[in-house]
Amino acid sequence: MKAEEKTTTVLFVILVIHMSLAVEMDMDIFAEPFDHAGNRNTKNDRPIIGVLSQETDGNVTIFGSQLIAATYVKFIESAGGRMAPIFINSTAPQIEKLFNSINGAIFPGGHRLLHHSNYTRVGKQILELAIKAYDNGDVFPIWGECLGLELISMLVAGRDMRRGQLDSEFFTDVNAENISLTLNLPKDYKTASVWKYAPTHMVKYLHDNKVAYNNHVKAITPQTYHKNRLLKKFFRIVSTSKDRKGVEFISTMEGKKYPVYLFHWHPAKSQFEWSRDLDIKHSFRSILTGQYFANFFVQQAKLSEHQFPSVEEERATLISNYKPTDVHNYLPFVQAYFF
Ligand SMILES: *[C@@H]1O[C@H](CO)[C@@H](O)[C@H](O)[C@H]1NC(C)=O
Ligand SMILES: *[C@@H]1O[C@H](CO)[C@@H](O)[C@H](O)[C@H]1NC(C)=O
Ligand SMILES: *[C@@H]1O[C@H](CO)[C@@H](O)[C@H](O)[C@H]1NC(C)=O
Ligand SMILES: *[C@@H]1O[C@H](CO)[C@@H](O)[C@H](O)[C@H]1NC(C)=O
Repeated sequence: MKAEEKTTTVLFVILVIHMSLAVEMDMDIFAEPFDHAGNRNTKNDRPIIGVLSQETDGNVTIFGSQLIAATYVKFIESAGGRMAPIFINSTAPQIEKLFNSINGAIFPGGHRLLHHSNYTRVGKQILELAIKAYDNGDVFPIWGECLGLELISMLVAGRDMRRGQLDSEFFTDVNAENISLTLNLPKDYKTASVWKYAPTHMVKYLHDNKVAYNNHVKAITPQTYHKNRLLKKFFRIVSTSKDRKGVEFISTMEGKKYPVYLFHWHPAKSQFEWSRDLDIKHSFRSILTGQYFANFFVQQAKLSEHQFPSVEEERATLISNYKPTDVHNYLPFVQAYFF
């Protein structure tokens, strides 16, 4: 063999080994951002994610009339994003202006009644803006967690918002307060956006162990999903869980077309919530799960080109203008922001 041929053969062998390793290895979440459609064109390395506030009640009204748990700020910041509060007392034009300045939104958990909260009014507006934007090639990811899942599911399914969570044809009572559960995955889970770049060992861990923290009394069952044409058209079920009595409910959904991700469980609590009264797991892999999902979501926000009109406006809007309060004596959180 000539030297040149030898080099070619060696390169070919290296290439083959490399390719077979790539097939065996997980697809890598950390490789590049990606959206739903596998789009990897980062447009923005300084993503800002909005988080909806909610009304305060009980003894924390002394701190303010609206609150956001600090966990959501830490979650976003841990993945290289910044957070801007979305005040639920804002007017529609204010929300539209903010929407055009931020790169994604989180609808957090909480115990508000949806028919008595401005969380519903503002959340609905943001969801509608995000859908319209995506149809025009403008990616705006939304993360709905617990209350956020309940709101977005009702909106998408065309339910009467005047009934909120009392809509008993839509929500099933479950016994899933303060409990960590396993995630049952559909057969084709590897094609789901939320799982396709996830480390195999992490997915297996979530499937085999009761580590996904739930804290809710209502849920949507797969039966309800299959009966609701609109919900089924919009979302795909990417995990279910079973409550204390064995009732199966949807624990994770993702948009079939739109970058909307719904969790009835709380991926970030393992990293950031420490109340000893709660069944939250802090094992290495449950923390990795929170880190994975923070990266999953913040990377998607990098596909949005929305920007504040000026650096001054951006600074004035960020959560860094506020101080968190230690609420461990009041709420099942470590810290919260009050407004
Ligand atoms: C919702 O916001 C509107 C307008 O800011 C306000 O008038 C109303 O009282 C708010 N409702 C609740 C339940 O806070
Ligand atoms: C939550 O669950 C844990 C573990 O089962 C238990 O120790 C704790 O008392 C529960 N807390 C509440 C508030 O129910
Ligand atoms: C505030 O209210 C909550 C819920 O009722 C209660 O668990 C907590 O102990 C109260 N905290 C204080 C400091 O009063
Ligand atoms: C909504 O609440 C925030 C925080 O308290 C306040 O700064 C803002 O002016 C309020 N917005 C409206 C439209 O009332």
